[in-house]
Amino acid sequence: MLKGKTIILGVTGSIAAYKIAGLASMLVKQHADVHVIMTKNATNFIHPTTFETLTGNKCLVDTFDRDFEFKVNHVSLAKLADIMMIAPASANVIAKLAHGIADDMLTTTALACKAPICISPAMNTNMFTNPVTQDNIALCSKYGMHVIAPAEGYLACGDTGAGKMPEPETLFEYLLKEIACEKDLLGKKIMVTAGPTREAIDPVRYITNHSTGKMGYAIAKRAMLRGAEVTLVSGPVSITPPMFVKVVPVCSAKDMYDAVMGEAMQQDVIIKSAAVADYCPAEIATEKVKKQDKDMAISLVRTPDILGTLGQRRIEVEQERSGAAGETMEHVPYLCGFSMETENMLANSRKKLSNKHIDMVVANNLKQEGAGFGTDTNIVTIITPEEQKELPIMTKEEVADTLLTVIKNQL
Ligand code: C5P
Repeated sequence: MLKGKTIILGVTGSIAAYKIAGLASMLVKQHADVHVIMTKNATNFIHPTTFETLTGNKCLVDTFDRDFEFKVNHVSLAKLADIMMIAPASANVIAKLAHGIADDMLTTTALACKAPICISPAMNTNMFTNPVTQDNIALCSKYGMHVIAPAEGYLACGDTGAGKMPEPETLFEYLLKEIACEKDLLGKKIMVTAGPTREAIDPVRYITNHSTGKMGYAIAKRAMLRGAEVTLVSGPVSITPPMFVKVVPVCSAKDMYDAVMGEAMQQDVIIKSAAVADYCPAEIATEKVKKQDKDMAISLVRTPDILGTLGQRRIEVEQERSGAAGETMEHVPYLCGFSMETENMLANSRKKLSNKHIDMVVANNLKQEGAGFGTDTNIVTIITPEEQKELPIMTKEEVADTLLTVIKNQL
């Protein structure tokens, strides 16, 4: 995901410095060209050789190092960078960054760097909450640096509070968000629904399906990486939602209906990849239903069709626009639904497009190997009123990217 990207990691003197070896390694695995610059203090916590071994690049500490490939080192490296991340950022270095002090290789490079700069403060909680540090952090933000809020917890000094550097995995996600993708969906609001719904029978049992949420979560992540403001309405799943998206957890189809309708009209795009239950028990027993020595039946009623309701609203808005009553300012988002079939996939899916009055149906056949629930791949056909595009087997991330591109071109 980071092929061709140059990343500068600035490491300062904090106990968390050793964790940056993990980050450097993750970035190299994604094919980034990683250059590490350390303050002199940082070399007390981790040796430059560790970073040199991991990145294959010389680790810089001294501004006037003569044994180096770049001409004017700090400027050349700053110019190459797609992003600079200073993590852990000590109170001392933050103070220098806030005031333009450039007295070592790290701070000099930062001052010369026109690429985005992320800083991850890591220090004793009293140092962090000190108004001087807080003012310096605010100044860094004012000058356009992205400040990653420190986590709270037990600190190496024995205190507990804010000041912990987030784990390397989290810092990695920040870097991906900034540079992994072209921001071609910037300014777009995209709502994605994902996962199954759970329809309660009694306090113990429920009706559900095999959806794991992987497809919807992949769409939410790719849309976020491409710059969209993403709301992920998710049924109960066991996977972790992507960072930087607003997650609205729901349980039943009715909950999902309420959550989607509450924010639908502010969206540019709604992608409904959730496997919503079509039926729910007519009544939810307040106490556990006791078994008996005879068969039993549960009476089921239809759940609200969320996508159908949104499509219906589109027809009403179009009628209001063209009718004598005048104009409506209401804006109906682009509507994309998923269709999971086990037979007559294309015919059934095309019917959904017209019956639900939506713009796109993404059809997948549960019986095809590599498609459907739980897998990391999918085989889909993208159906719009104008065309039908059958895609080969792809990872769910690739499917997400392809359908987001088709949608973007139709907005
Ligand atoms: O009609 P069918 O349930 O096959 O349509 C599937 C599509 O409709 C999916 O995008 C699903 O999220 C959506 N859906 C919905 N509300 C329901 C049932 C399905 O929005 N009650």
